[in-house]
Amino acid sequence: MKLLQDVDLRSFNTLGIPATAKYFADVTNIEELQNALEFARARGQAPIILGGGSNTVFTGDIDSLLIRLAMRGIACSVDGNDRIVEAAAGENWNELVCYCLAQGWYGLENLISIPGSVGAAPIQNIGAYGVELSNVLESVSGWDCQHGVIRRLSAEDCELGYRDSVFKHALKDRFIITSVSLRLSVIPKPELSYPALRAELTDAERATPEQIAETVAAIRAQKLPDYRRDPNAGSFFKNPLISAEKASDLLRQYPALAHWQMPNGQVKLAAAWLVDQSGWKGRRADGVGIHPNQAIVLVNYDGRSGADILHFAAQIQADVFANYGVNLEIEPRVY
Ligand code: FAD
Ligand code: EPU
Repeated sequence: MKLLQDVDLRSFNTLGIPATAKYFADVTNIEELQNALEFARARGQAPIILGGGSNTVFTGDIDSLLIRLAMRGIACSVDGNDRIVEAAAGENWNELVCYCLAQGWYGLENLISIPGSVGAAPIQNIGAYGVELSNVLESVSGWDCQHGVIRRLSAEDCELGYRDSVFKHALKDRFIITSVSLRLSVIPKPELSYPALRAELTDAERATPEQIAETVAAIRAQKLPDYRRDPNAGSFFKNPLISAEKASDLLRQYPALAHWQMPNGQVKLAAAWLVDQSGWKGRRADGVGIHPNQAIVLVNYDGRSGADILHFAAQIQADVFANYGVNLEIEPRVY
């Protein structure tokens, strides 16, 4: 394991936040991961786990060890028409999607162009354009920090929900994902329920997985800023889930409020609508702003600190609460 000291983290988080890590290690296999964990344990400090840094906010320098999961490798086994694809945590998510599509293994096409690593995908159950990781997840393998063993968790064990999983609750900071297994299929099953996706396809009923992937990638490229030019973490706020009762009150007052009915009876509101209608879209203050094309994408235009970003976000949260009585939760992990 190569241990680095005082590493500048600007290029390791897509918000471009200036911070340093006192210690930094890329781990490429289980043995290196164990060595890194032992190093942190000996110093009496909990390590911080990082993938691609596309859903992370650093509010200060990291005084402990930052471990970047860099394991690589993709393996596939056959189960009838299904393909069980096991990818190591350090693989790039988008590259995995493109690789599977090229092999004719379908199920990931709506999840194209999401930045970050494979290992982070289960943490918030990544989702886009009508598909979530939960639709294809078979199992997750990783290091159980509490018991000091490698464990495999079934998809059910992961308790995946909207931007949620067991890794944000009972297993928060206790399980380091080393690989993810997906159940894909050689038979295409197009998922076209997302209105913005359907609207872009000329012949939706006959759309191939390749056309779906191309269309999703094009919509994303148009709506979401490239973090290499406009540093961001995708949606900075989750879409709030509220009770049916509260939703019907709000919808009576604001019939145009974009929303989705959830299977458990709750209603998911479009945070972007709430922020947009509160007048924040395109607004910028002290180097931080809301992107002009997407009201929940916060951009760190001038390399400001995590604290500046959270200060800006708090003003939006307060306004939305004052206007609609709805709490906006921050989506990225804040350290
Ligand atoms: P990091 O930021 O590195 O880590 C995020 C969290 O996961 C941290 O708490 C970290 O400790 C933990 N973690 C990372 N790897 C592991 C591991 N191996 N084991 C245990 N814990 C781990 N998300 C969506 O769901 N849908 C979208 O459409 C979407 N679009 C985006 C668009 C843009 C432009 C950007 C910048 C982000 C977008 N995101 C989206 C958010 C982000 O891409 C995902 O959350 C992604 O899964 C984060 O991966 P990462 O490797 O960069 O995670
Ligand atoms: N809207 C506005 N103003 C805007 C943008 C959108 O009013 O500036 C309204 C529109 O009515 C639109 C609705 O909000 O119909 C939803 O907007 P959009 O389709 O752009 O999706 P979103 O809810 O903002 C979510 C995810 C994205 C994911 C897309 C596509 C969350 C927090 N965000 O965004 O995920 O790519 O749907 O499925 O759930 C991420 O998590 O980082 C992320 C980018």
